[in-house]
Order: sequence, then structure tokens, then C-alpha cells
Amino acid sequence: MDMLENIKEDIKRRCISPDNFFGEGSYSHIESVANNAVELARLYQADVEVCELAGWLHDIASITDYKLYEDHHIHGANMAEEILKAYNYPTDKIQLVKLCILNHRGSVLKEKTTREEICVADADAISHYDTLPSLFYLAFVQRKLNIDDGIEFVKNKLERSYNKMSEQSKEYYQHKRAMIQALLK
Ligand SMILES: [Fe+2]
Ligand SMILES: [Fe+2]
Repeated sequence: MDMLENIKEDIKRRCISPDNFFGEGSYSHIESVANNAVELARLYQADVEVCELAGWLHDIASITDYKLYEDHHIHGANMAEEILKAYNYPTDKIQLVKLCILNHRGSVLKEKTTREEICVADADAISHYDTLPSLFYLAFVQRKLNIDDGIEFVKNKLERSYNKMSEQSKEYYQHKRAMIQALLK
């Protein structure tokens, strides 16, 4: 099995582990981030392999140990480095994967200096549109909201995610956004 397949399996194991505070749904989120990161990397002529690896690894710290959640971008970058080093992945590419993980959080505003970072951060933001059931679960099951408040919560969350993206990704994903908005009317 190659490196990427091994990493996917490792992420799956961590996601379904009872120790994962965020639950199994985190796998759909991570898978969607990896897929969108690849799509954007092709579009923006970024390094597809780096974006795919960073997508799979971007939340590795938070699914492994909830105590790491607060600084999961920093811990995750270091964990990714360890993993990729063990596969003898080229050092310059490891540095790029680390940068993508370090700067994937819209809430932790840092200057993004590479196309790869933009691809992964935007993929993280758009992923909510691909995993609507998780948002409904959060609203109606975990937060126990009524129908109107729950829908409002989901809409706001989606809109905030959309607004975190770069201008070019906003344009690229505008149809996806319009489709989901129509569904939630
Ligand atoms: Fe994250
Ligand atoms: Fe994420």
C-alpha cells in the first residue's frame, strides 16, 4: 500500500476510535476537505499531492486528542511532519504540508503565502456544504434546537464558512452555495 492509502487508513482508524471526541462524522469532513483541496489545487495550479496530504492530515491532532484541539493547527503540523518523514517524503514538500495545516483555520488569521495554503483553508471552509447532515446533527441533536432556530443556526454557520474563503473560491463555489441556500429556504 502506498503512503497516501496508509495515511487514509490511519485517519479512518483515529476517526472511528471511541477516543475521538468529535465522533465518526469527522471522517466525512476530512474526506471532503481532501477532495475539495485536490479540486482547488488543480484549478489554482498548486501542488495537488501536497494539498491532498494536507487535507487528510489537517485535523489529525483534534481527532487524536481533544486536549490538542485549541492549538490543533500547530500540533497537527508537527504530527504530519513526523508521519511524512517516516515515509521519506521530500523535506521541501513536508514544509509545504506543514504550512497548509498551520494556516488552515479561518479563526486563526495568518497571512497565507502559498497557493497550497489557500486551497486547504478554502477546502476546510467549503466542506460544511458537503456534510450538511453533520450540521443538522449539531443543531438538532447536540444543541437540541427547534426547527426554526436549527435552520437559522445551520444557515449562519454555512454563510460564515463561505465568507472565510478567498474571493476566487467564493466565485468557484457560488453554485454550490446557491443550491444549498435554495434547499434551506
Ligand atoms: Fe481544523
Ligand atoms: Fe477541518
